[in-house]
Amino acid sequence: MTSTDHLQRYDRAQTYPWNYEHAPEYPPIVDVPDVPGEWSFCGLKVLSPLGIPAGPLLNGRWVLYYGALGFDVLTYKTVRSSSRECYPLPNLVPVNIDQIHGSEHSVAATDNMRGSWAVSFGMPSAEPDVWRRDIEWTRKRLPSEQVLSVSVVGTVQPGWSIEQLADDYALCARWAVESGADCIETNFSCPNVSTCDGQLYQQPESAAVVTERVRAAIGDTPYIIKIGHVTTEAQARDLLESVAPHIDAVAMTNSVAARVTTTDGTELFDGQPRGICGQSTLEASLAQVVLFRCVIDQLNKSISIIGVGGASTADDVRRYLNNGVVAIHMATAPMLDPLTGVKIRHEFAGGLLKGLR
Ligand SMILES: Cc1cc2nc3c(=O)[nH]c(=O)nc-3n(C[C@H](O)[C@H](O)[C@H](O)COP(=O)(O)O)c2cc1C
Repeated sequence: MTSTDHLQRYDRAQTYPWNYEHAPEYPPIVDVPDVPGEWSFCGLKVLSPLGIPAGPLLNGRWVLYYGALGFDVLTYKTVRSSSRECYPLPNLVPVNIDQIHGSEHSVAATDNMRGSWAVSFGMPSAEPDVWRRDIEWTRKRLPSEQVLSVSVVGTVQPGWSIEQLADDYALCARWAVESGADCIETNFSCPNVSTCDGQLYQQPESAAVVTERVRAAIGDTPYIIKIGHVTTEAQARDLLESVAPHIDAVAMTNSVAARVTTTDGTELFDGQPRGICGQSTLEASLAQVVLFRCVIDQLNKSISIIGVGGASTADDVRRYLNNGVVAIHMATAPMLDPLTGVKIRHEFAGGLLKGLR
């Protein structure tokens, strides 16, 4: 299991459409060990707490690929109510930082991938007809015990009210459910889109409007909100109180925002911040999970937490579980090493989960 060279992965030197078209044709045949224990995800029975968040799964073929590689909750990359192009290359720029906390003025780009990168896609989307058909195609082929979650985002138009934006989120969510999505995730965080839809997690009243409309559109379908970096108890409390009546779970942390500079000091991305994802976000994401677990318990709400950010090993997964998450979703690590999930499961099969509190 040491060489993973034969396994296909996202090619960051190529464009987003290229990677969309060059999705793996067939899932790999890999021995995937069982994970001991009983697991559930927003009320759905699953075989492990391992999943892929919105990002690496550009279409159904990518979903089936990672579904065969040890991940049981597969999140379809964020889709919209109309098509949108991806930002130009580079979309993924490796950065040189051990742990990021959010107060850094900037982080340095590097040629050497050390586990973290700046992510700059701008949430592209295929036409709704295309993604709706693809979700239907995917759900039919995905094993029944695996969960297909679909991430959606509203696309704000000039002059729109929050109600109009909420309706746009709800439309996408309804379409996704009609196509067979088992869960809906609304992306409330994307630091590289400088419009109001990008930062709903920082606007509790608007977040309440959107979650209410989405809930009305999807009935009992499990509903997750994906949020960005939150560090204060007051912010966590305000957000949770606003959305609690409508959601089942909160997924965090989307990324930690920072500007990116080259070694000669030139600012990339026109000096605009980008989301930093990967290993360097592990401690900040875990701290946010601890904060939210505490606030959810204080408020006595039944909201699950999905741990996202920086996980790459069985030990990282165990740390997230010890802090009360129901699932751990990984993007960067399995994009770099498609056998990440299989390796973690081997460790769990060997007894690492016994370390759980
Ligand atoms: C290539 C890539 C694309 C992403 N696209 C999305 C997206 O469309 N929607 C979203 O909510 N998050 C997106 N993200 C963020 C991930 O869902 C996740 O929150 C982040 O990568 C942190 O996890 P990681 O440290 O395991 O990579 C993307 C991340 C990556 C690496």
